[in-house]
Amino acid sequence: MTRKVTKAVFPVAGLGTRFLPATKSVPKEIMTLVDRPLIQYAIDEARAAGITEFIFVTSRGKGALEDYFDSAPELENALRTKGKTQLLETLEDTNMDSGAIAYIRQHKPMGLGHAVWCARRMIGNEPFAVMLPDDVIAADKPCLAQMIEAHQEIGGSMVAAMRVPEEKTSSYGILDIENETVGGLAKVRGMVEKPSVGNAPSNLAVIGRYILTPDVLNNLHEAKEGAGGEIQLTDAIAREIDEGRPVHGFQFEGQRFDCGSKAGFLQATVSFALARPDLQEEFYDYLNDIVPLAQAAE
Ligand code: G1P
Repeated sequence: MTRKVTKAVFPVAGLGTRFLPATKSVPKEIMTLVDRPLIQYAIDEARAAGITEFIFVTSRGKGALEDYFDSAPELENALRTKGKTQLLETLEDTNMDSGAIAYIRQHKPMGLGHAVWCARRMIGNEPFAVMLPDDVIAADKPCLAQMIEAHQEIGGSMVAAMRVPEEKTSSYGILDIENETVGGLAKVRGMVEKPSVGNAPSNLAVIGRYILTPDVLNNLHEAKEGAGGEIQLTDAIAREIDEGRPVHGFQFEGQRFDCGSKAGFLQATVSFALARPDLQEEFYDYLNDIVPLAQAAE
């Protein structure tokens, strides 16, 4: 039996330049999908998978993100006095246990691998999850819970994986797998970060959910700059394979939205709004009205 995964690392130090000017003062992870900040979706997914310790790797200008997780007694009192119990519950659902969240600063923007390495002392010597909040995954059973279940059986390191169009492979970590998947799992024999067009070993891309063994932290300790001049998490995981330790790709069930891009963020907004009972009807009618108008204007 593999050791239970209870810690998750959230690398949230990025500048979010694709969303300027908004990200000039609002951390990207606080931007809202319908009415919940992006980070709340990742936290909810982690909690549903049994994560109890949340490690945020932040940077300058992310104060609003830290404040978001504090309880808001004045707001809660006001809602209580006015008898707004539903809103109160919504708010209370976002409260975190004291001591469950830790923040560590990544002092220099040296890449995702470096961000994870910054959390090494808090992770210690146990398997841990990494969640990239930009990747929002809508699923009946949350993606990380699917992965942790599979990990209990198989151990080692595991990355979430998804097929992407050939022309998009240069935007992802790409897997070279040994065999086609059984139950969503495939043994990985190599992985490469953002291969140039025509050089991808497959079209199976790494999506931002990982379960890693502490060995990966040692690999990161010795890591050299990789793609884009940054310390890449992909390279440290690939080293596991070179050293004979197992790494699996897990094709999850669910729909992934790339909320690191404007188009992906808008798609997620539309899909999540259509899935919300309180908005569904009105929003659907609106889309029904405007889509034909947009088509006619083409
Ligand atoms: C990161 C990882 C990449 C992965 C991607 C998934 O890249 O480095 O391997 O495929 O997340 O979203 P980024 O999108 O941060 O450039």
